[in-house]
Amino acid sequence: MILETTGPAAVIVLAAGAGTRMKSRTPKILHEIGGRSMVGHALLAARSINPRQLALVVRHERDLVAKHLVDLDPDAVIVDQDDIPGTGRAVEVALSALDAHEELAGTVVVTYGDVPLLTGGLLAELVATHEREANAVTVLTAVLDDATGYGRILRGDDGTVTGIREHKDATETERLIREVNSGIYAFDAAVLRDALVHVTTDNSQGEKYLTDVLGLAREAGGRVAAVVTEDRWQVEGANDRVQLSALGAELNRRTVEAWMRAGVTVVDPSTTWVDSTVTLDEDVRILPNTQLHGTTTVARDAVVGPDTTLTDVSIGAGAKVTRTHGSGAVIGADAAVGPFTYLRPGTVLGETGKIGAFYETKNVTIGRGSKLSHLGYAGDAEIGEDTNIGCGNITANYDGEKKHRTVIGSGVRTGSNTVFVAPVTVGDGAYSGAGAVIRKDVPAGALAVTLAAQRNSEGWVLANRPGTRSAELAQAATEDSSSTQAPTEEGKQQ
Ligand code: UD1
Ligand code: CA
Repeated sequence: MILETTGPAAVIVLAAGAGTRMKSRTPKILHEIGGRSMVGHALLAARSINPRQLALVVRHERDLVAKHLVDLDPDAVIVDQDDIPGTGRAVEVALSALDAHEELAGTVVVTYGDVPLLTGGLLAELVATHEREANAVTVLTAVLDDATGYGRILRGDDGTVTGIREHKDATETERLIREVNSGIYAFDAAVLRDALVHVTTDNSQGEKYLTDVLGLAREAGGRVAAVVTEDRWQVEGANDRVQLSALGAELNRRTVEAWMRAGVTVVDPSTTWVDSTVTLDEDVRILPNTQLHGTTTVARDAVVGPDTTLTDVSIGAGAKVTRTHGSGAVIGADAAVGPFTYLRPGTVLGETGKIGAFYETKNVTIGRGSKLSHLGYAGDAEIGEDTNIGCGNITANYDGEKKHRTVIGSGVRTGSNTVFVAPVTVGDGAYSGAGAVIRKDVPAGALAVTLAAQRNSEGWVLANRPGTRSAELAQAATEDSSSTQAPTEEGKQQ
């Protein structure tokens, strides 16, 4: 039998605020850092402590948020806050929605949807302390240099937490307190349910304050305590885009540091951006100015960068990807890509294969050991193994209306500037001459050439571009060659 560690009865994530300071048509909590929405980070942390129920309280742009949640966490319960404002009301409506499903007993955790750096580890620590000390309420706090705007933690002479005072309601003396309420708590469900009934809107903002629950819990004889975190980033919210970018940078710093500790070499952490959703193996090397996004994975001993941006790209062991922009691609083990390469979705490069400089690829499967070394476009194509595509080759896949496929076999050698006018098939071991325009299938082992005879019009430049530098040099060359037409005996010996 597998013993599951039991988590809290519920986590309630608050996200009904308007987020007006973002000045955005996108709801605040859908803004992303580290490749994931803020609410995505919040829900991941909440899920990691294994709650029996998880609720997200919404109001502003609720339909957009609900739609986002379908992919993100379909089991989360969406709760709509009504016209009564305040964090206390938000928790009250969530509690009654969850109670309707299964009457909550034990620990209920409250977090915010716009605090993206909070980890499951810190939440677990909060819950553990709360339950070990058998508290009625345990609040997560931090000591800040500038506590302006935050609710202040009130403590008695013996240091016990007695309540929270909102900045707007605080006296001058209370405003000197630097210990602040993070807005993240563990509550006993019954205490929370009973106290919320008594929370009023009788304060400077006319809101139902969740913070009033602390005082009420104490009055009811419960123990109220705090867990103080030294890591202020974990309790920091993003209210505007300046804070969003600061949180994004810090998240990235933490992500990159974690990968370095896991055995990845990152030459320049300050110019390396790695989404939270990326995975890297031991002994991967990331060179400066590299951004790895989405579901990108990099296998052992691969080298990525410099100056490379990859989204949803899978890189095999030992591959090298230099100065490349790519998305939706698969790069085989020991393959090479770049520099100056554009990999578009559907590109699959086999082991030890190569897509070289100034190549664009899309929807193309390239077999093991095949090389597209310089200058070209390969789209809607299939290339076999150990084929060498010459410099400047193009798959002409689009007839203006539809896309067509090019199929090139194994062991093929194509001449420079070959154009494949799709749909077309080239058999195994075939060759093409330089400048060939392949409109018909090429059988295995055949050489395909499309010859248009070259014609040289002697003296054309002198006649048609007189007085130009070209004409001058042509004139000189003609004189030179006529003077060397009958070389001397000395000239012959040289
Ligand atoms: C709140 C706390 C304050 C704490 C601060 C930390 C209260 C009364 N005050 O203040 O002590 O220091 O957070 O950031 O709780 N929300 C709702 N419904 C609402 C109002 C808010 O869901 O009616 C959500 C918001 O979306 C946000 C969170 O609750 O995620 C906090 O709301 P916010 O308005 O930022 O609270 P503050 O007044 O800053
Ligand atoms: Ca706030």
